[in-house]
Amino acid sequence: MFSASLIWYALIVVAVFSFLHGLTKKKKKLPPGPRGVPILGHLHMLGKNPHQDLHRIAQKHGPIMYMQFGFVPNIIVSSPQAAEHFLKTYDLVFAGRPPHQAAKYLSWDQRNLSFGTYGTYWRNMRKLCTLELLSSLKIGSFQPMRREELGLLVEWLKHAALEHVSVDLSAKVSSLTVEMSCRMVFGKKYEDKDIDERGFKVVIQEGMKLVAIPNLGDYFPFLGVLDLQGLTRKMNALSKVFDQFFEKVIDDHVRAGDQGPTKDIVDIMMSIMQSGGTDFQFDRRHVKAIMLDMLAASMDTAASSVEWILSELLKNPRVMKKVQKELVEVVGLDRMVEESDLESLEYLDMVVKETFRLHPVAPLLIPHYSLEDCTVDGYQIPKDARIIINTFAIGRDPNAWTDHEKFNPERFVGSSIDLRGQHFQLLPFGSGRRGCPGMQLGLIMVRLIVAQLVHCFDWKLPNNMLPSELDMTEEFGLVVSRAEHLMAEQKYGHIPDPIESFNLVYKKNDKHKSWIDDASEQMGINEFNLVDLDTGDDGDNVDGNENLGDASNVNFDFSMTETPSFVQCEGVGEFMTETPAWIRSNPC
Ligand code: HEM
Repeated sequence: MFSASLIWYALIVVAVFSFLHGLTKKKKKLPPGPRGVPILGHLHMLGKNPHQDLHRIAQKHGPIMYMQFGFVPNIIVSSPQAAEHFLKTYDLVFAGRPPHQAAKYLSWDQRNLSFGTYGTYWRNMRKLCTLELLSSLKIGSFQPMRREELGLLVEWLKHAALEHVSVDLSAKVSSLTVEMSCRMVFGKKYEDKDIDERGFKVVIQEGMKLVAIPNLGDYFPFLGVLDLQGLTRKMNALSKVFDQFFEKVIDDHVRAGDQGPTKDIVDIMMSIMQSGGTDFQFDRRHVKAIMLDMLAASMDTAASSVEWILSELLKNPRVMKKVQKELVEVVGLDRMVEESDLESLEYLDMVVKETFRLHPVAPLLIPHYSLEDCTVDGYQIPKDARIIINTFAIGRDPNAWTDHEKFNPERFVGSSIDLRGQHFQLLPFGSGRRGCPGMQLGLIMVRLIVAQLVHCFDWKLPNNMLPSELDMTEEFGLVVSRAEHLMAEQKYGHIPDPIESFNLVYKKNDKHKSWIDDASEQMGINEFNLVDLDTGDDGDNVDGNENLGDASNVNFDFSMTETPSFVQCEGVGEFMTETPAWIRSNPC
């Protein structure tokens, strides 16, 4: 009897324990995810554009999803609410960066910020970069240089406009951001051959590619030493190229000594190094790691952002005209855009946000890493998992955005949604501890370049390509750019408003025909029929002001390809000593 009750008692304890254990186990379940295959896990499910693949898979499995790439656990985050859990509520737990081969070879053993492991060194370095290199004051001190570089591009484009050839906008904008970044970091432009026979841009871009290519050694650590893809060999070679070049840059700075009040980023880091004023070790390796960080982080991100914004403007001529109209109202037509104008360009700001929503240039941010076990939204997130925040998916979340596939900047009218990391439906710069420290500089570069290019020029797609025909295929990397370069034709000067009817002021002399031809060309009117130029008196909409001195009012009909319209022309001699403002509108 005694032993029977003991057995019953033991059974009940075991049952309760199992029940409780079951409960805790249930509470600690991993997030859902697709079924994987042995060894590879889910690696085979990723194609050329992993951000798009992960978006598609998450639509089936939910906004917090588990996937195994080789031996590495990954958590894929695809909604604003889920992103808020990872980047705000549990920001500290997920502030790590995963160890990976590229970080080892291309960041002087993770001495940079982007790939630095979370800890005292990273915190100190981040503080140093934010306060000393990327503060508003410092960014402001580089303003004349940005202006000068942009001015050079505008001059080049003005000449190209005369030759009526298509411009490779992707290449031009990319060169511009390289020049701007070099002058900001090194204080001067180095020649391509100074780094390597391949040239500056190519070498940096190769680095970015090597960082982004899935490396088998990261997912199957025991394969790392075999270097089956040859990536380690390439990274080793590239790190030597960077190292030699950056040593030369540092030597140049040491030789040049103090060069006056405007200090470039290397100057500042050198003086910190020489003062020995940091609580942590700071030597040439750190200077080189941060140099590469600043260059790589600013060049491609800004160039791709501008590329996508211009692509959307060319795809949406209505929006382009509206941006130009705002520029005419805020800046006018007789000067270049200044950085101080940017805050007043509200519509441009909406266009930038809408482009980042659809084309976040770093769609998977930089992978985060869980520093300890954590429970998020009822799911167990294991320590040492990669956390991938898919901002490409978040920008298309139908619960966060209506008509999410449509490019519609007006969706931000009266909306408080901003892109600086406080609103989790729009995270082009990430958020929280690991959010982009160069956001302010990046936004200035992007908005200034776009504003200046559409202020000075009217752009259209080449070879009569229709906006709907523009290929928007993406090429994945740490930064996603256009697969095809963006080509466009430009016309110097632009018409502020969409023209349907207008008053044309002209002098009645031999030149009038060419004035009108010029005007019609500038407005994109394909067919222009002059009627009754001489009398100005054919009865249609004549306001009766004919024969003022040597001037006349004339009527003529014109037809635009899409909007047939009637134009009333009035001519007053003295007005025509000058070109009318809308023809003269060449602010650059
Ligand atoms: C339009 C331009 C830019 C965009 C879209 C952009 C975007 C981003 C994104 C998405 C991240 C990752 C955030 C995360 O993992 O949570 C990041 C990190 C970073 N960005 Fe930017 N960025 C831009 C410009 C810049 C510039 C101009 C600099 C500096 C010169 C810069 C420096 C950095 C650094 C150092 C990090 C790593 C931060 C860390 O891990 O602590 N970025 N950026």
